[in-house]
Amino acid sequence: MIDKQAVLQAFNFRHACKTFDPERKIPDEDFRMILETGRLSPSSFGFEPWRFLVVQDMALREKLRAVSWGAQGQFPTASHVIAILARKEDMRPGSDYTENFMRNVQKLSDEGIARRHTFYPQFHETDFQLQEPRALFDWSCRQAYIALANMMTAAALIGIDSCPIEGFNQRNAEAVLNEAGLLEGGRFGLAVMVALGYRINPQPVKTRQTLEEVVRWT
Ligand SMILES: Cc1cc2nc3c(=O)[nH]c(=O)nc-3n(C[C@H](O)[C@H](O)[C@H](O)COP(=O)(O)O)c2cc1C
Repeated sequence: MIDKQAVLQAFNFRHACKTFDPERKIPDEDFRMILETGRLSPSSFGFEPWRFLVVQDMALREKLRAVSWGAQGQFPTASHVIAILARKEDMRPGSDYTENFMRNVQKLSDEGIARRHTFYPQFHETDFQLQEPRALFDWSCRQAYIALANMMTAAALIGIDSCPIEGFNQRNAEAVLNEAGLLEGGRFGLAVMVALGYRINPQPVKTRQTLEEVVRWT
């Protein structure tokens, strides 16, 4: 197990890095490790509603930058950019995606699948009310953000900087990705992006509310 102070040090080291050193590239092994922490992230029902699209094509990055006010300094300088895509209609109960997932990825027994056929629709219809396409996509996105957080923390733990990017026009950014054939005809939407690399400027002072302000005990 890793030392507690080392974990906190990584959380303090991580900041929203606005400009990266364009000369420094993340070694393949390190980048793979970061992706692996995304892959191993938890998701609701374990259905992994994400895809990690690594955008190394600078022309595509430039097109995305044009519709991303929050990534002006990050996209041209980052060693790597990941667009985290989230599934849409695939997440509905009874979809080919979920059925195939239960059998071939999760390897559930027939009994396990039958149980899911009861409570997964109930979760969608009653518990979380995911009937609206936007509600469904947002639910996928919430899970994509868990993978985002894990990848940023993993990066910080090995001395790599990052910046989460939500500063984009979703419709326009999705149009760019769709035109490049990367959304599988609307099967995926764009949840969030993250730029990774090495800082070129000193880190600003971190500001946060105190623990007393953000925690309530009952
Ligand atoms: C989901 C999400 C989206 C964000 N989008 C952007 C962005 O588009 N551009 C940017 O420069 N920072 C972005 N940020 C960074 C936040 O502004 C930053 O995390 C916050 O101000 C706290 O600062 P710190 O991360 O440096 O501690 C985003 C953060 C999160 C969590």
